[in-house]
Amino acid sequence: MRSKAISTPNIAFIKYWGNRNDELRLPMAPSLSMTLDRPTVKITVEDADTFSVRSFLVDGSEKTLKEKDIDRFRKVVTLMRRYLGTIGAEDVLSESIAIAVRSHIPPAVGLASSAAVFSCLAKAIAGFIREKKELTNKQVSILARLGSGSAARSIFGGFSTLEEGNGMEIENSWSEQIADEHHWALYDFVTIPAMEEKKVGSTEGHASSHSSPFYTERVQAIRSRRQRECIEAIRTKDFEALQRVTEEDCLDMHHVMQTQMPPLQYLNAETHRIVDAIKELRTKEHLPVLFTMDAGPTVHLVCPEEGRSAVLSFAHAQKGCTIFETKVGSGASLIG
Ligand code: DP6
Repeated sequence: MRSKAISTPNIAFIKYWGNRNDELRLPMAPSLSMTLDRPTVKITVEDADTFSVRSFLVDGSEKTLKEKDIDRFRKVVTLMRRYLGTIGAEDVLSESIAIAVRSHIPPAVGLASSAAVFSCLAKAIAGFIREKKELTNKQVSILARLGSGSAARSIFGGFSTLEEGNGMEIENSWSEQIADEHHWALYDFVTIPAMEEKKVGSTEGHASSHSSPFYTERVQAIRSRRQRECIEAIRTKDFEALQRVTEEDCLDMHHVMQTQMPPLQYLNAETHRIVDAIKELRTKEHLPVLFTMDAGPTVHLVCPEEGRSAVLSFAHAQKGCTIFETKVGSGASLIG
């Protein structure tokens, strides 16, 4: 048996930060993102005598994986088997599988890839077991979540949530699509400052998020208002409302990050310079554009068709930055 899938990253408008159970990646609050159309990751899963993970770069050369990366995959496959057990499919996935990851994310781009990788793995595993057990996309999103919380959202195209859910069981959080990729043509011009800072990974960051004195307030704001406002803005294609809630939530997440113990400072001087400059341009030219940053200094400039050419010129004018041009994409799919 052999199965191959393709997937892409997503950019969150309401950010996922912190879990009620770290091992199972059960989030404290819901989140919401737009799936991007590139860069792509492809994963092949096949039967083997022992468990293995290999990773290849765009040029076909093999990248040596660290023991801790291989370990993460191994743990994820174990958790996936545990989840499959809860839906009456305990024996459909063997632990002896060979996983081959082909990432089209150029190393210089530094675009966080765990969402693309683990959504792709979940889809490939779903393909691998499909003759024995057919999974719904909701179930595939649960498999993806076990690898990386944000990965659950990349199973779907367009705009999707990671639902908070209730309870402490492995199946208690999943992704739902709000609108597909044909609903609203939004672009994300990913603007990457030259000096990508070495960062503490998200997994570690999530685990200490609760130590920020602003964390409870953040969770309350998302649960009571922000997630709903963001869903509404997307449904009605109200870009101004989307901008307001996305920027509010992004700055709030970074405030939590900076005040948790140990504090995490993902933004740098370049990030602030780009954000100030886009705000100035937006006021001057009445441009529809929003900014948002994940766990790194990279600025995502999101805009509808009307803002496209001006925002793209702005992005390309940022000295020393690598620009990645993306738009709303169609999510993970099987390709073999
Ligand atoms: C800041 O999904 O990368 O990008 O589950 O540990 O892999 P793990 O965390 P991850 O966290 C994403 C954090 C974020 C916000 C977001 O994408 O929602």
